[in-house]
Amino acid sequence: MVVTVVPSTSSYAAHVREAARTVGAEFVRTDPTRPADMADRIMVVDLTRVMAQGRLGNRVIAISQRLDLDCYEVISPDQVRARLRRALRNLVERERLQSHIANEQQTILALNEIGYALSAESSRASLLDTVLTQARTVLRADGGSIYLVDGDTVRFTTSQNDTIAFRASRRVLPLDDASLAGFVASRRVSLNIPDVRELPADTPYRPNLSFDRETGYSTRSMLLVPMCDREGDVIGVLALVNRKPEADRPLHSYDNVGVFSERDAGIAGSIASQAAVAIENHRLYVEIRGLFDGFVDAAISAVESRDPSTAGHSHRVAWLTTTLARDVSASDLPVFQDIRFTEQQIMELDYAAMLHDFGKVGVREEVLLKAEKLFAWELRDIEYRFRLAAMQVALDDTAGHIEPHEAAARMRALQRDLARIRQLNGPQNKVGPEEVAELQEIGRRWQVPDTGERVLGAREVHRMSVPYGTLDEQERLEIQRHVSNSYDFLRRIPWTRGLRDIADIAHAHHEKRDGTGYPLRLTDLEIPFGAKLMTIADIFDALTAGDRPYKPAMPAEKALGILRHMAGRGKLLSDAVELFAERRSWAHIPKGYRVERRQR
Ligand SMILES: [Fe+2]
Ligand SMILES: [Fe+2]
Repeated sequence: MVVTVVPSTSSYAAHVREAARTVGAEFVRTDPTRPADMADRIMVVDLTRVMAQGRLGNRVIAISQRLDLDCYEVISPDQVRARLRRALRNLVERERLQSHIANEQQTILALNEIGYALSAESSRASLLDTVLTQARTVLRADGGSIYLVDGDTVRFTTSQNDTIAFRASRRVLPLDDASLAGFVASRRVSLNIPDVRELPADTPYRPNLSFDRETGYSTRSMLLVPMCDREGDVIGVLALVNRKPEADRPLHSYDNVGVFSERDAGIAGSIASQAAVAIENHRLYVEIRGLFDGFVDAAISAVESRDPSTAGHSHRVAWLTTTLARDVSASDLPVFQDIRFTEQQIMELDYAAMLHDFGKVGVREEVLLKAEKLFAWELRDIEYRFRLAAMQVALDDTAGHIEPHEAAARMRALQRDLARIRQLNGPQNKVGPEEVAELQEIGRRWQVPDTGERVLGAREVHRMSVPYGTLDEQERLEIQRHVSNSYDFLRRIPWTRGLRDIADIAHAHHEKRDGTGYPLRLTDLEIPFGAKLMTIADIFDALTAGDRPYKPAMPAEKALGILRHMAGRGKLLSDAVELFAERRSWAHIPKGYRVERRQR
């Protein structure tokens, strides 16, 4: 606090100076013609010598006979000796308290801002950067570093400096007393050093000034505080360098470097512990993510192990979908100009794509793996009945019930009919009305001896009447139910706020823009945008991935042709298909994608 007397020639000047000294305030002479001299000062105004002009203000003690003046206190000239010291003490005390409160408020505000900034950071590197930037701003430090404890070393992690540009080092120091950071971390104490060049010879630690030598910088004052987590363990050290006279400006001269106060050390300690908690939270978050990703991988393995031919499908679809989403975000095509995926939305899309087919765990394995129109045991039954019919022909021949050439002709016919059944049973063969009639004819032609049962029953003919592929209507519906199964499963997971649309996105992966998809028959605007991209990736991978039991793999160009055809018929987003075709991202799926994902 600074006290002054106006005018400086007042006969009370010596008395005011003495009173200021006894209350611990500084006394200065003031030139009333310089407004800067009057700012922020406590004034004793001798109104027996000067005229009062307007309001004196509540930092003024007036010496006057008039008692109606607008100021902190008025003392009549004859009471100066008795009352001035006490009045001055009260005023100085009030000013000190007010300034203390204002400082505390500013610090609390700054710490709140730091807390908020830290909670918003999602990567450790930017978290550390934010801690250092905020700490340097609040404490007016020109430079600073963060060291993290790693076993029995402290690792130099982040560094900033307002005055010089430099390349960050990756120095590792032993966790011992020899270095400043090592000392602070191992002893769990703060160091507030006014000038590192003048450290007493008996301190165990020495500053490492190689940075100064390499860059021409000059480190003077330093403040180092340990960063302790909730358990009180030191996880790192926050080091601040060279207190600046003004915030937001580089140092003009190293002679202007100030010294960090005890109050600065206290604030640095608060920032360091907030940062330690934020870093620990981040580490826990990364661990929980790793654990969760492990579960996701286990879930995917469970699905894919039931159908080995689809191995890797979920991971590839996730990669293709998120890559396409990033490409859409980066695209300057007018049609995509309003679509920008955030990192959070990309993560949401990634999980949705990873788990889109999880519902297949609820589909019977024989349906999932069905390679032909009839199940293997159904075909075996038919073959068995054909064998019985053939044995009957052989018996009739041996017993002389039929002529040998007739027997040979029947045998050939049996073989021909069975071969035809096997052929039509394959996944690539279309079974239309003509083929159905042919099968019915075979059914009528041959019976099992004794029972009279047909070798190819009506039910089997019906089972084979599948125009395309291998699934009959019931089986197709059963497979399609995997989408609702995935949705029911994903809906039960308590996703965090930014991931809450995962179930809806996965639910829409077989929907088509023209409303012909399943299970909800959604139309264009009802389908989440991310799901439309996933549909493209899903179809492409299903077509081009390794051979499936029911179909061989398709070359990429042919698959793109199918995607374009579907887009042309209004089923898929045409611009997204073109972007997908142009980028050819399937050719760049990283080998260790599964591992990389977990380390993100
Ligand atoms: Fe699917
Ligand atoms: Fe799929």
